[in-house]
Amino acid sequence: MCGIFGCVLQKGAVAPLIHSGLKRLEYRGYDSVGIATVFKGRIYLKKDRGKIDEVHARWNLNDLPGKMGIGHTRWATHGAPLQINAHPQVDCSGKVAVIHNGIIENFAELRDELINKNHGFVSKTDTEVIPHLIEENLKTGLDFKEAVREAVTKLEGSYAICVVYSGAPNKIISARKASPLVIGISDKGVCASSDIPTVLPLTNKIIEVNNGEIAVLSEKEVEIRRIESWERISRKPCEITWTLEMAQKQGYPHFMLKEIHEQPSRLQDGLRLQENYLNLLTTFLDRSKEIYLIACGTSYNACVAASYMFSNLCNLITHPVLASEFVEQYGNAVNIDSTILAVSQSGETADVLNAIEYARFRAATILGITNSIGSTLTRVARAYISQQSGPEIGVAATKTFTSQLMVFAQLALHLAKIRGKVSQNQMDYLTEKIQEIPALVEEIIQIQEKKIRKIAKKYKEKACFYFLGRGISTATAIEGRLKLLEIAYIPSIAYPAGESKHGPISLIEQGFPIIFVCPKDSTQKALIGNIMEMKARGGTIIAVVDESNDEIKKLADDYIEIPADIPELWTPIPYVIPLQLFAYYMAIEKGLNPDMPRNLAKSVTVL
Ligand code: G6P
Repeated sequence: MCGIFGCVLQKGAVAPLIHSGLKRLEYRGYDSVGIATVFKGRIYLKKDRGKIDEVHARWNLNDLPGKMGIGHTRWATHGAPLQINAHPQVDCSGKVAVIHNGIIENFAELRDELINKNHGFVSKTDTEVIPHLIEENLKTGLDFKEAVREAVTKLEGSYAICVVYSGAPNKIISARKASPLVIGISDKGVCASSDIPTVLPLTNKIIEVNNGEIAVLSEKEVEIRRIESWERISRKPCEITWTLEMAQKQGYPHFMLKEIHEQPSRLQDGLRLQENYLNLLTTFLDRSKEIYLIACGTSYNACVAASYMFSNLCNLITHPVLASEFVEQYGNAVNIDSTILAVSQSGETADVLNAIEYARFRAATILGITNSIGSTLTRVARAYISQQSGPEIGVAATKTFTSQLMVFAQLALHLAKIRGKVSQNQMDYLTEKIQEIPALVEEIIQIQEKKIRKIAKKYKEKACFYFLGRGISTATAIEGRLKLLEIAYIPSIAYPAGESKHGPISLIEQGFPIIFVCPKDSTQKALIGNIMEMKARGGTIIAVVDESNDEIKKLADDYIEIPADIPELWTPIPYVIPLQLFAYYMAIEKGLNPDMPRNLAKSVTVL
């Protein structure tokens, strides 16, 4: 997601410091950059689309005057990567500038209210409402601090912000709700950032800002208050001993592990999708005669799960197709009545783009789900939606899978509503249950990670694994298999469990490990039959299993429990988590670097 960095120095120019701080965030990926400083009662601002070095070569980011300023790396969520959408965003008067990391869910309502009060908007960002709200509050006579406080109480969603105001030359105000924010205190000045790497050159004395708190930074101190009660909080700085590399990984040994742990918050973002985009995609899907879900790798595995969601909730047939096979397999059948829903984290995978190009030529409708606003996919798609998982650096996709499923689940719910195929009670139940998924994922990581590590140690010498599941768990199984072979280089096989007797079972001998994905769902009885078949031939059973399923727990040699009462169609999100961790720890046990699997690339831009 976006990186924010604000700094008030006691003396000296702040712009070069912010510039070099932002460079330390480059590893996360971004599409635009911007800095604003305050000097002699005026805001000076430079921002543009592109890499920091390019923007610096174009505009010289270092010559902004003043000892106080804010800087931002943007990773587009609302609005394409354009200069106008880059941060800082300003109010009508150009006196208030804001940088933001997060998503303002109610920005459309707030913007309408502000437009009615004659505010002019220039960007497509959700962020732009914030400076205008502050401007409105300043007009009513509130001081800077109170104006920011009043503004943030109106915001729904997630945010970490830094605000500067030309009328307050020595203050940056920061606030936080569900997006990271730390304060750094040094004898040269005080800074606030979303990321520790930016703070490290200045200081290793850090104060955490909690949700619902505001921090007022001045050159020598920071004042922290609860936004709601306005109570002042006294919090001592702690010293961190991280190197730059450790800080970039937020203390995790690998990006992959960091990204696995990030899933609860990314899934929460995935519940903040914009209604109008969901509605638009749903409308296109509803009127399509033939729908192909086209993707590669992990994104394809998410499409397999999605096909179960659409058929079960919406009575809609969708065909998941590997992009590299699409033209040969279905090319001649594609026409004006076909819809392609292309799913690609990067939005740049050559096989996906090639399939889209072919389908476009045959007049099909192109839709997209992607993590990269501004990518080729978003430019060629008639409509698209962001999966909201934030930059993913580990080559093996983890949060991509769960975030894409979060989008698919909401699309299927929207479509089910239009089509009236599901009772109101069932809709309410599914809607309530999808909201619980981020917390469940957190619980699974917290409770099961140690056990999974032990299981990996126990099975590290095994030469091959089976991954089996029935129904929608087939998708979970194929994704678990993909992770293990990608990063631990263990040849593995995934099948729908029912099909395992038609071939794969011939491999089973004493001690052959089979990982079963076992939610308590409609496939349970049949799955137990498959487990028995494997056990009868000496197979060793590892089950990822509903905690209330004692029958399977008794049959398994090892098991990892998942909380009970998760609707069948939502199970791939929590059930894949132990499989991601298993693959990660298998790679560690084998002494491999999970972030850099051999021969693989994060984004494959060749056919
Ligand atoms: C490569 C990556 C995979 C990814 C696949 C599809 O193979 O190594 O992790 O799942 O591409 O990428 P996309 O960006 O299209 O989702």
